[in-house]
Formats: sequence, C-alpha cells, structure tokens
Amino acid sequence: MTSVLALETSCDESAAAIVTRSENGVVEVRSSRIASQVEEHAQWGGVVPEIASRRHVEALPQLIEAVVSDSGIGFDQLDAVAATVTPGLAGALMVASVTGRTLAALHDRPFLAIHHLEGHLASVQLSELAPRPPYLVLLVSGGHTELIQVDQTGAMDRLARSHDDAAGEAFDKVARLLGLGYPGGPAIQELATDGDASRFALPKGRISLPGGGFHPYDFSFSGLKTAMLRSVQTLRASGEPLPLADLAASFEAVVADVLVERSLRCARDHGLQRLVMVGGVAANRRLRLKMQERAKAVGVSVSIAPLAYCTDNAAMIGAAALERLSRGRRFSSPETGVSARWPLQRADELYGDVPAF
Ligand code: KG4
Ligand code: ZN
Repeated sequence: MTSVLALETSCDESAAAIVTRSENGVVEVRSSRIASQVEEHAQWGGVVPEIASRRHVEALPQLIEAVVSDSGIGFDQLDAVAATVTPGLAGALMVASVTGRTLAALHDRPFLAIHHLEGHLASVQLSELAPRPPYLVLLVSGGHTELIQVDQTGAMDRLARSHDDAAGEAFDKVARLLGLGYPGGPAIQELATDGDASRFALPKGRISLPGGGFHPYDFSFSGLKTAMLRSVQTLRASGEPLPLADLAASFEAVVADVLVERSLRCARDHGLQRLVMVGGVAANRRLRLKMQERAKAVGVSVSIAPLAYCTDNAAMIGAAALERLSRGRRFSSPETGVSARWPLQRADELYGDVPAF
C-alpha cells in the first residue's frame, strides 16, 4: 500500500487529507478535512488574497493533526508528502508548499509538488467506479472551463477552453448581479430550483473563426453575463420585483446546455466514448443530470467526481500524487516554489532535481 499526506491552500479552502492506494490500484480517502473561509470572504463579494493566506496559516496545522489522528496513519507510514504549488494565489499557495516541504524534510519523506488542475482531474479516481483513460474531461471550476483529452498513458491534450470567464466565475458574477452571496454557484442552484428555465432566452456564447463559422467547442460566457445584466436592467426599469428564481433557472440552464452540448460533440468528433466531469461547477445538480441524460442518449458513458470532491479539497491532490507515484518514482525538488500560473501541459516539469520555479 502507498500512503500520502496531501495539502491544498491555493484559494479559499485550507485542506489536508491522507489517501492510500492498494496494490491492485484501489484509491481510498482515509481522512479528508477542509476549513472553508467562504463566509469570511462572502462579506467582500469575493476572495481577498491577504485574508486567505492568513487563514491558511492558522488552519493548516490543526487540519494536519486531525487527518493524521483520524486515519491512524502516522508519518512513519507515509510514502510521500504532497502539496499544491500552482496555479492559484501565490501567497496562499505558499502556506501548503512550505508546510509540505518542511514536513517532508523533517520526516525524511519525498515531496511531490502538485498542479491544482491535475488534482481536479484526479478527483474522479475517488468515485466508486473509477474510470480508466482514454476519456474526455470537462474541467469546470471557478478559474477554468476546458475540455482535456486524456490518453491511455495519462498524457493530456487541451481541445477547448473559455475565451473569457470560466463557468464558475460566470456563476459568481451573475449571483452578485442578482444580489446573492458568494460563492454564486450554490446560491444560484438553490434559487433556480423553483424557477422557470425557459422564461428568458439567453445567448450560448460562440467563438467566431477567422475564416468564418464558429469554433465547435470553445466557450465564451461574457455575452451571457451582459445579457443577464440587460434583462435585470429592463426588469428594474419596469418597476416590477425581479423574478429571481426564473432568472437564476434560465441562466443555470443555458450554462448547463452549452457545457453538455459542446463536451458531447467534442467526445463524438474525437471518437471518445467516455466523458469525465470535474471541478466546482461539476457539483451543479442541473448540469450533472443533464450530462447524464444526454450522454446516455448518444451512447457516451459519464463519470462525475463525487460531490464532496468537486470543489477544492486535498483528497484530490493526494489522488494526483498517488497517480504520479504509480507511474514511476519521480519526486519534486525540495526547493520548488509556487507559481500563480503554470500550464497543465507542463506539469511534468514539476518533477526532477531542478525546481520548475
Ligand atoms: O473547483 P473550485 O472549488 O475552485 C477552483 O479551483 O476554481 O470551484 C469553485 C467554483 C465557484 O465559482 C463556485 O461558484 C462554483 O465552483 N460552484 C458551483 C456549485 N458549487 C460550486 N457552480 C454551480 N453550481 C454549484 N452547485
Ligand atoms: Zn479548484
């Protein structure tokens, strides 16, 4: 059995987890804890980086103590310590990075620097029926909306992206427009439950190609955001109370439609019969349902990350570390720093004797 301690502090959740992998490849979360700062940031309408770093410093030591004691797996039984080092808020990332590297050095364990998006991709390995590549991944979070092809060897190729806002960012901005709290996704989802999703006709945001026509899979959410703003302004001018539930439902439905349609089209065009959905927005009920229904209709099988591991957590970072370890023993330099941005396609450079950054 291989065991790792994983740490995550890239944004507004401090998290620690101990995850194991058995000889036959079964990945198990032995303990996972998250201290969310969402309520504190909510009063500012978004994440305040300085506050995030300070709260990580306060929360992380207790979380580590808790996962070690919950799991009964001590440092002497750990095979490695892993921490998210990119992308994210630099000051926030530094907390898990320096803590992880220090613990690794003190206990004489190797350190694995993990790319946050590789963590999201690995979150699907924590579902009961972990899918095996090749598959197409729809990664939908607060910072990214991408379609990534993963082949048998685990190699990744990005086939589509958003040209402006990420889907989660659109949820957060529209929630603010509707006077709802942060984060916007769960707030819109709740409000949308009783809404009429067909009340407002909203644009699906397409990307024009220089030679004419549209990109078949790429996303754009800025036009949708503007359309929502216009609808709200017109309704306000009429003096009527805002039909919040209908607005939320119409918005949520068009985002889900776009994500489902383009993902399935991309899968079909690339001959992929398996689709994986991960990231904070993958927690959305309407999206999960719609993806399952439409995929079934076109003969594509769908695996969605367990609800608890869609939004940021450390178990997915542990799963990514175990995947790295299972593919050959390459560790990260103990001098690895942090980086606010780093392409997922270059995640391999985080391993080896020379630090990537
Ligand atoms: O993956 P995540 O926790 O952080 C990033 O790496 O970005 O994703 C956070 C995003 C936020 O934008 C939040 O509004 C969105 O995921 N989100 C949701 C839901 N839960 C979280 N969006 C739609 N429906 C949800 N239920
Ligand atoms: Zn994330």
